Amino acid sequence: MPEKRIISTEFTEEDKRIEGSLRPQSLAEYIGQSRCKEMLKVYIEAARARGEALDHVLLYGPPGLGKTTLAGIIANEMGVNIKITSGPAIEKPGEMAAILNNLQDGDLLFVDEIHRLNRQVEEVLYPAMEDFAIDIVIGKGASARSIRLELPHFTLVGATTRAGLLTAPLRDRFGVVEHLEFYSVPELHEILMRSADVLGVKISSEGALEIARRSRGTPRLANRFLKRVRDFAQVRYDGVITPEVAQTALNILNVDSCGLDRGDRTILRTIIEKFGGGPVGPEAVAAAIGEDVGTLEDVYEPYLIQNGFLLRTPRGRMVAEKTYRHLGLPVPE
Ligand code: ADE
Repeated sequence: MPEKRIISTEFTEEDKRIEGSLRPQSLAEYIGQSRCKEMLKVYIEAARARGEALDHVLLYGPPGLGKTTLAGIIANEMGVNIKITSGPAIEKPGEMAAILNNLQDGDLLFVDEIHRLNRQVEEVLYPAMEDFAIDIVIGKGASARSIRLELPHFTLVGATTRAGLLTAPLRDRFGVVEHLEFYSVPELHEILMRSADVLGVKISSEGALEIARRSRGTPRLANRFLKRVRDFAQVRYDGVITPEVAQTALNILNVDSCGLDRGDRTILRTIIEKFGGGPVGPEAVAAAIGEDVGTLEDVYEPYLIQNGFLLRTPRGRMVAEKTYRHLGLPVPE
C-alpha cells in the first residue's frame, strides 16, 4: 500500500456527534438541492396518500452533500423507521437476507456506499427490490430446493458517489434516481447561520460568508470549519467569528481563499510539475500522489472540475490557466 499523502477526509467521533445534531430533520428545514427536494416532496406525498411504501431511491454525488441526511428526512416525512448500513459492512448474502427479513412494512433501509456491495449480496437485492421476496436454497445436492420468502414492503435508499459505479441491474431497480449538486455560497451561508444558531456560536453574516466561500460547496466541510473557526475565535479573539477570524483560522488550516486544501493543491501542482500541466490520465496522477484513483475521481476531482481548476479532455486531465495564477505560478505560453 502506498503511503497516503493526501490528508484524510475521515471525521472524528466528535465531528460525527456535532454533525448529527446539525442535521435537519424535515424537508422544510433542509437548505439547497431544491430540484431533488421538490421531486421527493411529490413522491412522498403521493406514496403517503396511497398508503404505500415509497419507491426505491438512489442518491448519488460527491461526499458530504447530505445523502445520509436526506435518507433520514425521507424516513421522517414518510413516518417510518430507518435502518442504516453500508455496502462494505455486509459480507454474506445471508446477512442481507436477515436485514431485509427483520424490516417492518414501510421501513426504509439506507445502504451507504451501495456500489461496494459484493456480487452475491447484491443479487439478494434484485428480487427483494422488485418482488419483495428472497429465494433461499435449503439442503444440498440432489435434495436442494429453493423456497421463496415474502418480505415486508420496504424502501431501499442507496447512496453512492457516482451512479455509474453501480451495475446496470441494480441501478435499473431504483424508481427514483437523484443527483446531489454542490451547494452555492448563499446556500452554505444559510446553512452556517442555522448551524451557528443550533450550536450557540456567535458569528457575523460576513464571517459566515467567508467560511461559506471556502467550503467547496459542501455542508459537511462548512459545519466542520465552523467548529474549528469557533475554537480560534474563542482562544485567540473575543469569541465572535468575523471575516478576519475566519480567514486567519482557515489559512492556518491550509484552506485557501477558493476552498482548496492541501490535497487539492498537491493534485494541481503534481500535474503541473510532473506532467507539464497535462493532459494526463487520472491513473498516472493518482499513482504520482500515492492516492487511490477512485478517491481522486470521486472526492477531489468533481469540485476542481466544476470550478474550472481542472479540465477533463479526451486525452486526459489538464490544468486550467486560472490554476497557475491561483497557485502563484507563471502561466505557460
Ligand atoms: N446541515 C447540513 N446540511 C444541511 C442542509 N442541506 N440544510 C440545512 N442544514 C444542513
